[in-house]
Amino acid sequence: MARHLITSAIPYINGIKHLGNLVGSQLPADLFARYQRGRGHEVLFLCATDEHGTPAELAAAKAGKPVAEYCAEMHEVQSRIAEGFRLSFDHFGRSSSPQNHRLTQHFAKVLADRGLIREVSETQMYSPTDGRYLPDRYIEGTCPNCGFESARGDQCDNCTKQLDPVDLINPHSTISGATDLEMRETKHLYLRQSAMKDELEAWIDSKTDWPVLTTSIAKKWLNDGDGLQDRGITRDLDWGVPVQRGDEPWPGMEGKVFYVWFDAPIEYIACAQEWVEAGKGDDWERWWRTDKGAGDVTYTQFMGKDNVPFHTLGFPATILGSGEPWKLVDYIKSFNYLNYDGGQFSTSRGRGVFMDQALEILPADYWRWWLLSHAPESSDAEFTWENFQSSVNKDLADVLGNFVSRITKFCRSKFGEEVPAGGSFGERETALIADLEARIRAYEGHMEAMEVRKAAAALRGIWVAGNEYLQAAAPWATFKEDPEQAAAQVRLGLNLIRLYAVLSAPFLPDASAKMLEGMQTDATDWPGDAESALSVLEPGHAFTVPEVLFSKITDDQREEWQGRFAGVRE
Ligand code: 2FM
Ligand code: ZN
Repeated sequence: MARHLITSAIPYINGIKHLGNLVGSQLPADLFARYQRGRGHEVLFLCATDEHGTPAELAAAKAGKPVAEYCAEMHEVQSRIAEGFRLSFDHFGRSSSPQNHRLTQHFAKVLADRGLIREVSETQMYSPTDGRYLPDRYIEGTCPNCGFESARGDQCDNCTKQLDPVDLINPHSTISGATDLEMRETKHLYLRQSAMKDELEAWIDSKTDWPVLTTSIAKKWLNDGDGLQDRGITRDLDWGVPVQRGDEPWPGMEGKVFYVWFDAPIEYIACAQEWVEAGKGDDWERWWRTDKGAGDVTYTQFMGKDNVPFHTLGFPATILGSGEPWKLVDYIKSFNYLNYDGGQFSTSRGRGVFMDQALEILPADYWRWWLLSHAPESSDAEFTWENFQSSVNKDLADVLGNFVSRITKFCRSKFGEEVPAGGSFGERETALIADLEARIRAYEGHMEAMEVRKAAAALRGIWVAGNEYLQAAAPWATFKEDPEQAAAQVRLGLNLIRLYAVLSAPFLPDASAKMLEGMQTDATDWPGDAESALSVLEPGHAFTVPEVLFSKITDDQREEWQGRFAGVRE
């Protein structure tokens, strides 16, 4: 049994995420976690809310709530929605946890002890109107790199370039709109990433199997301009992890906090500690400390492309720089963006479908299937309602749902609600089994490689093969001439339903559960060979006809939703 540590990028606490966010990290991470569990491996799947920094402060101010209260409430909201989408986290933590505070301060201490942190006196944007410094999202202006007019102080959402507030052209305060900003002297800590450039580059060069999207972004940051820059890891904010050197105060840094991108990835580790504290596990170190058993763990991270620099360079600099035996990531699966109906999803403008709204109109499996089968892997992808309707209606209702309903209803009417005995497999059945054998192995290959779209296509191919068999074998016609042979065909069909339930579970957990319930079995072992997997349900085994797995999306529904989600979220 292998051991898989899997993390999804941790979503910002500021509000409910849209479907583009979901498919960029949490959902494919869940697919992989469910698959590895299905294969019988030991999995620790972690995610959390990213609660510090300006996004949290600004959102709390907008909601008129103290930031701690706002974060606690939004964590609950995000947690419930994650359950709604069947995201099977072993723990959904919080970056504001005491565990993360302690660990972040610990890393700062060891990095400082090793000479990798320097104190810098610098000028920062100060707004006399607001009476405060304006770090990161408290300031917006035009991106010096691409000209995008609403670039934030820390990063341009358009070209993904990491920015410093002082780089922006025509900057203004996002609190008051004030433009009378002045530069004031303040002291900050910098992580000396430049000193680790060679080590980081050698490490990235050793990852020859990583997706090009991941390595190309990492290489760009390593070699752009003057090469890898030192990174400010503190901010003049109230909310966050107070700057301390371990348990000790850090003279001159009073009243400052660590930058959100310094503490957020450390939460991946702290989250495992929270998992233990919550009584769900008893040993986090065997997942995270290579001196305590994590040497044989395979660690995979999932994220959108804008997060890649922080995971290929920033967080590894923290880990490697500490000189301590922490587990480093083995594979980084990154995604492009999902667009919405001719434009971008936008959290600030409320454009597109958000996770809570999606679940209000259709169950999780419908969304999971469309999003994963159209995952933005090799390029950006686009959600359109026409495409969504056609995928759901064809793949889920016509192919999978129809297969299950036809075979179970036919069996009930001719043989009763149990797997029929008699007859034997002929050429057609042998050919189907051989075909399925090859298809299952190909499906596994894509899942192992985290090729999400290819895996979805392979799974759909497995459903289609069963449907085509049923169409050709036509047990309803066979039954008139040769009921014994029809019994063998139906037996194979019922066994296919169980096999589909097992194979489809990572994509469609609810439909899979319904199929297993209908087949009255808890035999969910991953299929070794197709032939034995297709004889698990023996003659005489009772079943029930499952309720309809998937309803079709009507044109009226599609039009209504198209209209409802075209505008701005209320
Ligand atoms: O882009 C985002 O949504 C960030 N909150 C991701 C953080 S991932 C990590 F570093 F923890
Ligand atoms: Zn830009």
